[in-house]
Amino acid sequence: MKVTVKAADPAGLKIPALLVFLFSEDQPDLSARPELAGFKPLIAPRLESKDFQADHLNTLTLFPEARPGPERVILAGLGPEKELTSAKLRAAAAKAAQTARDHGLAAAALLAPPARGPLADTAETAEHAVLGAFLGLQQFNELKTEAKEKKAPLKSLLVLPAETRARSETEAAARAAEILAEAVRRARDLGNRPANLLYPETLAEEARKLAKSAGLKIKVLDQNQARRRGMGAFLAVAQGSHRPGRVIILEYKGGAPKERPVVLVGKAITFDSGGLSLKPSEGLHNMKTDMAGGAAVLAVLAAAAGLKLKLNLVGIVPAAENMPDGGAYRPGDILTSMSGQTIEVISTDAEGRLILADALTLAREYTPYRLIDIATLTGACVVALGEKCAGLMGTSPELIADLKNASVRSGERVWEMPLIDDYYELLKSETADFKNAGARYGGAITGALFLKKFVGDAPWAHLDIAGPSRLEKAEPDTPAGATGFGVLLLSTFLRDLAP
Ligand code: BES
Ligand code: MN
Ligand code: ZN
Repeated sequence: MKVTVKAADPAGLKIPALLVFLFSEDQPDLSARPELAGFKPLIAPRLESKDFQADHLNTLTLFPEARPGPERVILAGLGPEKELTSAKLRAAAAKAAQTARDHGLAAAALLAPPARGPLADTAETAEHAVLGAFLGLQQFNELKTEAKEKKAPLKSLLVLPAETRARSETEAAARAAEILAEAVRRARDLGNRPANLLYPETLAEEARKLAKSAGLKIKVLDQNQARRRGMGAFLAVAQGSHRPGRVIILEYKGGAPKERPVVLVGKAITFDSGGLSLKPSEGLHNMKTDMAGGAAVLAVLAAAAGLKLKLNLVGIVPAAENMPDGGAYRPGDILTSMSGQTIEVISTDAEGRLILADALTLAREYTPYRLIDIATLTGACVVALGEKCAGLMGTSPELIADLKNASVRSGERVWEMPLIDDYYELLKSETADFKNAGARYGGAITGALFLKKFVGDAPWAHLDIAGPSRLEKAEPDTPAGATGFGVLLLSTFLRDLAP
C-alpha cells in the first residue's frame, strides 16, 4: 500500500472513501472537531439518532451527496477520550481500513484523529492510526493458490493531518508507520511459514536478504564454526535434526563507532517437537512459531535501520530445529556450554534456554550497553499471563523500567515476574553445574534463572513471549497465527534510547 500525506479540507476530497475517527465525547454539532465542519450535515443526524455511537470498534459507512467530496465516509469509533491507547487506535484504524477494502476500494484517505487522553502527541497519534491501517490489511496468503481467498488490496492511502500545521510531523509519522508495519509483517510471515519451508538455513537466507535491503552487516555461523566457538549447548539441540543449525548475527551501526551496542538475542527454534522428550501431538503444529523471538529480532534490526536510529545494535539469532532422530541429544546428557559451565539435560524440550545460553555468551563479546533476549520460552508463562502478555524478568531495574514504559506506549503488554534466587535450588544437579529444567512450579522463573547464568554482568532483561507470539482468534489489527509480538515493543524501546 502506497502512503502519501497532504494537508487538505477532507470535505473537498475526490476519493472513494474517507476514514474518520470519532470519540464518545463528540457531540452532533462536532464543535470539538473543527476539521470535520464540512461533514456536519452528514454526521450530525447519525449521531443524534444514535445510528452511530462512537464505541470502540464501531463502524458505519455513510454516502455523502455533496460533490466534490468523498464518495463514502467511514466512521470509526474510538470510545472515550480518556481511555484511548495506541493499541485501541490501531485496532479502530484496522477496522476502518478493512471496511474500505471490503467495499472493494483501491484507494482511501485517512483523517488523523486529534491527540487526546493518554495518547497526547499528534505525531504519535497519526503514526498509530496509519500503522493500524497497515496491520489490519496484512494477510499471510503466500501459500494459498485459490485467488478467491485473497482479498483485493487497498492500494493507496492518503493521510490527512489532524490540523494543517501538523503536515510535516504527520509525514514523518506515516513514514515511521510504514517501516514498523513492514517489520511486523516480516516477523508475522516468518512465524506463519511452516517448518518444512522455514528451517535454520532458509531463515539465514531470509536474514541475508533482509540485511542486504536494510544495509546491515551479517555473519552466519554454520555448525563447524559454532563448534570452533565451543557452542556445545546450541549444537546439542541442533544435532537431532537433518536440518543443520545456524547462528545469525546482524549488526546495525547508527551510533558513534566506539559506542557500546544494544544486543538483542532471539530464540529461533524453527520447529519444537520436544526432541526425545517428545511433546504430545495436540497443538504440535503451532510449534512452527517457536522462532518468533528470532523473527522479532531480525525485524527490529530492519526497522532500526529504516528509522535510521542513532545507536549501535547487534541481533543474535540462534536457529535450530528440535527433533528426535537417532543422533538426537538425550535426557541425562551433560553438555559443556560456550561459557564453560556444564548442563545436565533433564528435558530435551527445555531446548530454548540451551541455544540461548550460548547465544548470550556470544552476546557478551560485544560488551552490551543493554542485553535483551526474547523467546517463546515456557508454557508456564502462558499459564501465568495468558495469550496477550509477555513475562519480563531481568537484572537491571533501569532496563526493566524502560521496557515497561515502551510496553505502555506501544500497547504490547508485559508483566514483570520476580527472579527469585531461592529457586536456583530447583536447578541443582548431582553431576553437572546445573540442570536445564526444574519442576513444574515456577517454570517461567526457573527458565529465566537458567538464562541469568550466562549473562555475566551485562544489564539484562528477558522477555518470555510464549503466550503472545501466537493468537488463536483474529483481532482487528492482528490476524490469527503469528503476531509479530515484540517488534513494536522493542522498536519503541530503541527509539526512546536514540530518537
Ligand atoms: N517452545 C516451548 C514453550 C512454549 C509453550 C511456547 C507453549 C509456546 C507455547 C519450550 O521449548 C518448552 O517446551 N518449554 C518447556 C520447558 C519445560 C520442559 C521445563 C515447557 O514449557 O513445558
Ligand atoms: Mn521445547
Ligand atoms: Zn521451544
